[in-house]
Amino acid sequence: MPKAVRFERYGDVDVLEVVDVPRPVPGPGHVVVRVRAAGINPGEAAIRRGLLHDRWPATFPSGQGSDLAGVVDEVADGVSDVAVGDEVIGFTHDRASQAELVVVDADHLVPRPPGVPWEVAGALFVVGATAHAATEAVAPGPDDTLVVAGAAGGVGTIAVQLARLAGATVLGLASPPHHDWLRDHGTVPVDYSDGVEQRILDASGGRVDAFIDTFGGGYVDLAISLGVVPERIDTIVDWAAAGRYGVKTDGNMVGARAEVLAELAGLIEAGGLEVPIAGTYPLADVREAYRELERRHTLGKVVLIP
Ligand SMILES: NC(=O)c1ccc[n+]([C@@H]2O[C@H](COP(=O)([O-])OP(=O)(O)OC[C@H]3O[C@@H](n4cnc5c(N)ncnc54)[C@H](OP(=O)(O)O)[C@@H]3O)[C@@H](O)[C@H]2O)c1
Repeated sequence: MPKAVRFERYGDVDVLEVVDVPRPVPGPGHVVVRVRAAGINPGEAAIRRGLLHDRWPATFPSGQGSDLAGVVDEVADGVSDVAVGDEVIGFTHDRASQAELVVVDADHLVPRPPGVPWEVAGALFVVGATAHAATEAVAPGPDDTLVVAGAAGGVGTIAVQLARLAGATVLGLASPPHHDWLRDHGTVPVDYSDGVEQRILDASGGRVDAFIDTFGGGYVDLAISLGVVPERIDTIVDWAAAGRYGVKTDGNMVGARAEVLAELAGLIEAGGLEVPIAGTYPLADVREAYRELERRHTLGKVVLIP
């Protein structure tokens, strides 16, 4: 029987189990993908802990995971442009990708370009779609200086590169161990410890035009204090601040389209975008993978390899 991640109740990483499950059966328009890589994300940890119960409750036993890349293993009726054996990148909204086999809507798959490594392909959807939407929301251009808070994270590492491709000057807030990576990707690193506002002003010459907050905890207030207008601030975390100031909240739901995934995969294939991989773990080590993620100091992505 194929293996899949399951949890039976809300709790710490210890509620996560890898169990034998029946082979999933695809309905019309769907395929079964044999998963080669599945990225993990902080939102999944928040759901597992029950912190999002009012907004996105779990039903038990719950599976986990949206991100996936793998090889098509079975095709149901009504699927014409995907075939058994195809190498694909995709997503599911069914909390199901952290598994050996997953059922996916054929419209939620794009081909894996040969130059995109499996662990990168499998980590691309949540952070890529989110960074794409957040960057489009603040529309950075060649005359702009953009600040990205959480610049070393899964979303932040992609957002800084997309903004650079759009020609903006980009300041990335990160801890010193991640400054070299940011510098190597055209971004001015700024330490977020005490005194961050003055460091941003010094690094930007006193003018900040746009701000993406991927971390929360006061960065929207900081953006307002820096004089950024609300329509050029996007937070993917701080709904309370968004309500206070009327800033944007474009994130995964806005960017969750196969065309976006294909565009990002094409950029990676062409050498214009890098998704740093902080670590890979076998499916059996799912608890250890989330322990690393939940320390919140990874550069880029943590990925499960079933
Ligand atoms: N709304 C949406 O659609 C949506 C979609 C995806 C994610 N999210 C949310 O967005 C957040 C980011 O997701 P992610 O996948 O990018 O997370 P992540 O990869 O786990 O982010 C980790 C990063 O956070 C940085 N960080 C830690 N403390 C910080 C601080 N005080 N100030 C600035 N940065 C700090 C770390 O940088 P250092 O190691 O350098 O400290 C690390 O690189 C999560 O809360 C996630 O749930 C929302």
